Amino acid sequence: MDGLTALAYRGYDSAGVAVWEGGEISLRKAKGRIDNLRAMLDKSPVSGKCGIGHTRWATHGEPSDVNSHPHTDSNKTLALVHNGIIENYLKLKEMLEKRGCVFVSETDTEVVAQLLGYLYRGNPLFALKQAVSLIEGSFALAILFADDPEAIYCTCKDSPMVLGHGDGESVVASDIPAILEYTRDVCFMQDRQIAVMRKDGISYYDEFGVSIEKTPTHIDWDVESAKKGNYEHFMMKEICEEPEAFRKTFEQYVSIKDFSLKAEKFPWDAARAKSMERLTIVSCGTAYHAGMLGKKFIEHMARLPVDVDIASEFRYSDALLKKGAPFMVISQSGETADTIAAMRRAKQLGCETMAVCNVTGSTISREAEHVLYTYAGPEIAVAATKTYLTQIIVMYLVALDLAEKRGEMTREQVAERLKKMQKVPVSMQKILDSRENIQFFASRAFAVKHVFFIGRGIDYALAMEAALKLKEISYIHSEAYAAGELKHGTIALIEDGSLVVALATQDELLPKIASNMEEVRVRGAHVLAVTNGRWEGAKGHSHEQWEIDRMDETLAPLCAIIPMQLLAYYLAVQKGCPVDQPRNLAKSVTVE
Ligand code: AGP
Repeated sequence: MDGLTALAYRGYDSAGVAVWEGGEISLRKAKGRIDNLRAMLDKSPVSGKCGIGHTRWATHGEPSDVNSHPHTDSNKTLALVHNGIIENYLKLKEMLEKRGCVFVSETDTEVVAQLLGYLYRGNPLFALKQAVSLIEGSFALAILFADDPEAIYCTCKDSPMVLGHGDGESVVASDIPAILEYTRDVCFMQDRQIAVMRKDGISYYDEFGVSIEKTPTHIDWDVESAKKGNYEHFMMKEICEEPEAFRKTFEQYVSIKDFSLKAEKFPWDAARAKSMERLTIVSCGTAYHAGMLGKKFIEHMARLPVDVDIASEFRYSDALLKKGAPFMVISQSGETADTIAAMRRAKQLGCETMAVCNVTGSTISREAEHVLYTYAGPEIAVAATKTYLTQIIVMYLVALDLAEKRGEMTREQVAERLKKMQKVPVSMQKILDSRENIQFFASRAFAVKHVFFIGRGIDYALAMEAALKLKEISYIHSEAYAAGELKHGTIALIEDGSLVVALATQDELLPKIASNMEEVRVRGAHVLAVTNGRWEGAKGHSHEQWEIDRMDETLAPLCAIIPMQLLAYYLAVQKGCPVDQPRNLAKSVTVE
């Protein structure tokens, strides 16, 4: 149950467990959050030494008790949990129904359970090998066979799976936080490998059933960092950890004694940096927004053209990339299905792949040719906060490194920027220390129906992330708009009571954004200006002004994101939303 709770951020439509107990497999499943399952187990406990559990994010079949995992075959010879999507489940279901299998759920997962039951002739490994060769799609499966009650059989394809080698126990999960309490020595499963876990060890096999050796990796994450501590929500804890995450990431890439970049940390030398014609960045959601900001940084400082695309679009696009072209993905989890597919496509095209990633051992970090790690530590809340910050820090440092190696900036100019950058966490902390002001604003504004985040240039890229943060956790309709584009249609939506947050951190563009603020103010919007130091010009065009410490304009988004995250958080709390686990969302989107 603790493991499932740690994984609740990946899905929470329903939950269930199966335990081998007194000669048979006992099941408990409940629709809704994990607490419903907990209550059910309090009333009707199970006990045993070998079990599997699941917390679901529905893809096939509505969230319901019967669609919850674990699923069994008709004879209850096995129970299994599944993460992923079985793409040929209808074909398999038809074939199994013709052979007498009676299905009880609407899920694709039950097809795997019935298929395994149908193929099973007393040898779990053999049945599993056969089943894996027949199913198409993505899967991470953990299976309990009634005939082999002290073992769990596992396999996966295109879905993450981590196995922990504990002391007198073995554990498996789809993400590290679920097993950190039990062991830090883990192995990551590769596609179609099979593992058989027993309390005294784990045996690994390749897809042909041939025994293989795997060496565990030691995970040095702090257990506490995956816990909520005294905070009401993980999201607030993670926002408060941002100054520290900033320092950690910064120090990994920058030598503090002389404010120089650690050249070896970046996957290009000067010749390669100079030879680059274009960089393509591909990612999803918040990571896509980090890519958008990265584009602004890189084009501005390194004068290298950057294309940014959404992974789900890129993977089916014409992808006109040259052989050897640099191709970067950004992903905190390293497990986002579309991002993985996009990176594989780029590899097939002969691009040089690199990844900005927060999780060591994840699929993306294993498959990319080069990895630029972010050092945010585990992020549990569904809404990305500290991982976004560390992604944009890395993008900023990438821009500086490329600028220096391409001869667009001198080492002294770079050192000057880095010196200024090092001070940003102090300014971030000031905002965190006075966060009650934002809480107070949220207590007045939480009934707002529409929020527009507007900005130009760097501020527009930041606005995109601010709008996503707000909508995903507070369910308030919000949009990001390039401030100058508003009047080409979207301004029609502005009415009395709309909230417009004008991100105005770039001096040169202030007169322009002032006009855009005025356009919405006179149409009834409540205008909040977020500024880089005091901006007297905001008076008259806005109803309030939130200032960050005055800083180099290129650095401003690294700090200005904090009030935006806090605004989203406090509005969601005021509305009584489940901040860490917003409806319909999962932390790692491991399905297409
Ligand atoms: C943002 O708050 C979301 N969690 C989501 O947009 C996320 O950034 C996206 O799914 C990509 O995830 P990744 O960074 O793990 O690839």
